[in-house]
Amino acid sequence: MKKLILTAALSTMALSVTKTTIADEGMWQPHQLPSLKKELKKAGLKLDPNDLTELTEFPMGAIVSLGGCSAAFLSPQGLVATNHHCTYGSIQFNSTAEDNLIEKGFLAKSLKEELKAAPGSRVFVTEEVSKVTDKVIGDLADTLSGIDRYKAIEKNRKQLISDCESAEGYRCRVSSFHGGLEYYLIKQMEIKDVRLVYAPAGAIGKYGGDVDNWMWPRHTGDFSFYRAYVSKDGKPVEYSEDNVPYQPKHFLKVNANGVQDGDFVMIAGYPGSTNRYRTSVEVKDQFEWYYPTFRKVVHNYIDIIEKNAPEGSDARVKYASTLASLNNVEKNWGSMIESYGKGDFLQRKTKLEASLANWLDTDKKMSKKHRDSINALNALILEDQKEQETDLKLWAMSRDALSTTAANLYRLALEKQKPDTEREPGYQERDMTRFEEGLKRFNRRWDEKVAKELYKYFITEYATLPLEQRVKSFDKTMGIGEKLDSAKFAKTLNQMFANTKLTDEKTRLDWMNKSVEDFKNSTDPFIQLAVATYDENYQRELKSKQRSGQFQQLRPKYMAAMIDYYDYLGKPIYADANSTLRVTYGNVKGYSPKDGVYSMPFTTLEGLLAKHTGEEPFNSPEAQNKLIKEREYGRYLDKSLDSVQVNYLTTVDITGGNSGSSTLNDKAEFVGLVFDGNYESIIGDWDYDPNLKRGIHVSSAYMLWVMEHIDDAHNLIKEMTVIR
Ligand code: ARG
Repeated sequence: MKKLILTAALSTMALSVTKTTIADEGMWQPHQLPSLKKELKKAGLKLDPNDLTELTEFPMGAIVSLGGCSAAFLSPQGLVATNHHCTYGSIQFNSTAEDNLIEKGFLAKSLKEELKAAPGSRVFVTEEVSKVTDKVIGDLADTLSGIDRYKAIEKNRKQLISDCESAEGYRCRVSSFHGGLEYYLIKQMEIKDVRLVYAPAGAIGKYGGDVDNWMWPRHTGDFSFYRAYVSKDGKPVEYSEDNVPYQPKHFLKVNANGVQDGDFVMIAGYPGSTNRYRTSVEVKDQFEWYYPTFRKVVHNYIDIIEKNAPEGSDARVKYASTLASLNNVEKNWGSMIESYGKGDFLQRKTKLEASLANWLDTDKKMSKKHRDSINALNALILEDQKEQETDLKLWAMSRDALSTTAANLYRLALEKQKPDTEREPGYQERDMTRFEEGLKRFNRRWDEKVAKELYKYFITEYATLPLEQRVKSFDKTMGIGEKLDSAKFAKTLNQMFANTKLTDEKTRLDWMNKSVEDFKNSTDPFIQLAVATYDENYQRELKSKQRSGQFQQLRPKYMAAMIDYYDYLGKPIYADANSTLRVTYGNVKGYSPKDGVYSMPFTTLEGLLAKHTGEEPFNSPEAQNKLIKEREYGRYLDKSLDSVQVNYLTTVDITGGNSGSSTLNDKAEFVGLVFDGNYESIIGDWDYDPNLKRGIHVSSAYMLWVMEHIDDAHNLIKEMTVIR
């Protein structure tokens, strides 16, 4: 599951685990695993859990992040396995309507044929995770709140990051756990030269498309390969023809048999975000306002792209990646709304809070410690919700890619006037490569007609705000009155698009080095807009930081209360996902989606063929159909299924960001890739249900079968260590 875009945009003790766990719930930090020894053993792990805490040893040394997706090394030559939907942006970047690699697939038969991945593609290898809570908040007064707290935390984080990054080739970050109760410093080697090696045809890699997305039974070959490159002397450097494949110390061996029902499996990856400890006030708002409201916007967003970038057009290829993400999010939120409506999540949440309150009634000490902060957090949440409607519309106003590009460039000029350590994160020297890569991606993901129509839609939404809530400088520059005059606005836009030079890559890159004066004197309409609206937008930014600082003061206190309560209940606690390395384990297992129905944990090639209609997204390649009809299963026949296993289900606790993680068996051999969750489990990001929560994986057996029998990817199979 690739990390969802458009997440909820609006808004000191070491935890070890000693008590018994509930089902397979939990996204554990590696250092917590030794305390889960019994559970892991019972589930079937053959390794010593202590080995899993050594990040640079086997197997964790083979696990990597792509930023937004997870992955792993499968060969000593830096071959990286991940999902097809995780390399999709790179496949798309290298495609045009005439030469469409999304459709055809791509295989480099030699290193020379490998393609540059999309600008900004990375392979991160986590080498160190250390606790830095004291260094981040240790010196802050308990009462410090609002923007002062926000700034103090930011300053401490920046210091830690800059010390950590004094080692060349590393990217560091400070991540907050339990809403800011704990902080960890994460040090990752950052590999910047990433190349596309192999992607099966879209009719395999994305078989079933958005119809089957989040669904079981599933038959998708959602796998693909990158390769990591470094300089000849082993340094992670920018792309260069002279670079050589990175040689990781550890890589995973591939077990060609996949898995069997009941087998132990484990996922080490980078889950993006979950909300398992939110309050009932937040739950109600999220499911009754945020998801339904935002989902309509996403729906219209998709509609506009599809109408203005017809299938088969170059524009459609440019928006393929954007569309895939939007469709993914729309369905995700649809499922959340549906599950919430059918279930009793809110009632159970409310009940939990009531029992927490009862417990506090019986324990004076705990009551004194926690009661006030729980109330304060809930008051702050309500306060924050009052502005969400406005926030949504202002968010819409700043969606246009040209406007944001201009605004970011102007901000860069302003920030550059300050010493590096005082600049806003995102505008420091350490961010410049990424900044540039963003500017370089632009043209392969942007089309004038689509962009104009999107802008019109978003501004129409924005202009429904009462005047006093709008950005006055924006209205003035764009000539918008109390009511939006659509015809007039369309004309303004036409002129702006006709007169801007920002659609040219070199022009954009040149602006990276211009002065504030240059911006002020520019005649480019989007630069002018950025300059005119800067002050007002900056004031809004300060307001939102003030809010964040308030949350940074109260959320950790609330989490401390939850932790004490869980401790009292004897329940282990893991932190909500935050894009850091976590381990989850479970077993291969089916489930019952509804009364009277049992979903088996495997799908087969026969099932794949049965779905084939010849029409997208169920257009399995002829070569594959022929092999299936002739039962050409070679070495990949699974006797108990009397077929080749295609996808399977397990009880691992995953979310968006885990996509592309290798599925490991009891000996940490590669047995597939996790790529999705089942429809009924999506609400699991908030509300874990052991009966419904399943991960969907593509089997190593199907991957190898496709590579061997359909795509002739023998060069890659040879490179891996395959156990048969
Ligand atoms: N549901 C998958 C995830 O969240 C994404 C699958 C992408 N495929 C698609 N048909 N849009 O990671």
